[in-house]
Amino acid sequence: MYIGPLPLFAWIGVVTLVLAVAQVLTGRHILKVNFRYHRVGGYLVVFLGIIHGLFGLGFLRLFQ
Ligand code: HEM
Repeated sequence: MYIGPLPLFAWIGVVTLVLAVAQVLTGRHILKVNFRYHRVGGYLVVFLGIIHGLFGLGFLRLFQ
């Protein structure tokens, strides 16, 4: 499924990358936000990463 120029899994990958960078910045206290965002973001980035990988593999149509 395409959303604009990119397939859905690629958009999820972009969000995952941005979140991963935010995790490092909040984890190292470079971005000073409530630490709750680091905890929640950590689980979210793992969840989105798994979805991204599975959707990406599906997009390759390996098993047709
Ligand atoms: C992919 C997910 C995550 C990434 C990339 C990440 C990254 C980091 C980084 C780079 C640091 C700094 C480490 C240091 O300076 O030595 C850090 C610290 C920390 N992270 Fe995460 N983190 C993630 C998920 C989580 C989660 C899920 C939790 C808690 C449930 C968590 C709790 C903490 C704590 C307690 C610290 C120490 C903060 C402090 O020094 O005051 N992180 N994290």
